[in-house]
Amino acid sequence: MSKFSNLNRRDFLRIGGTGVSGLIAGQALPLAPADAAAKTKEQVYSPADVAPLADLPVGASLEFQYPDEDSPAVMIHLAEAAKGGIGPNNAIVAYSTLCTHKGCPVQYNPERKMLICPCHWSTFDAAKAGAIVIGHASQPLPQIKLRIEADRIQAYGVDGLIYGRHTNIL
Ligand code: FES
Repeated sequence: MSKFSNLNRRDFLRIGGTGVSGLIAGQALPLAPADAAAKTKEQVYSPADVAPLADLPVGASLEFQYPDEDSPAVMIHLAEAAKGGIGPNNAIVAYSTLCTHKGCPVQYNPERKMLICPCHWSTFDAAKAGAIVIGHASQPLPQIKLRIEADRIQAYGVDGLIYGRHTNIL
């Protein structure tokens, strides 16, 4: 007779659950090949020169592409400090302009300081890391990481997944 034959259903489930959690805690599960590839690709953003700092006065915006030609983005110089901002007042930010709902091109509205999607009116806050203010989108706009090198603004990464991609680096 098996030593488990006197176990009731509750005991069996308890022992089984302990065994599974012990297995998970005791050893790291290997990454699936797709996850491993994504992790590797996330680490190879190439820095890209966007514009001289002097070319982007307060209130200005500039369209560019990053991390590749198929990824439209906009850089904005706000009047006040912004989350993730760079520059003299930490007020320069950049975002992917592909709406996170269904990929329509969002447009920057300087009066409202919002990025607004013309398809279903999702609205993203330029000063708050692209946070959703209203609309169908469920994710903030991906924020392009910026830095200043020798008085030039450089993009060097992306926070968040660009619409329609499995990884930002294709
Ligand atoms: S595609 Fe932008 S809100 Fe739907």
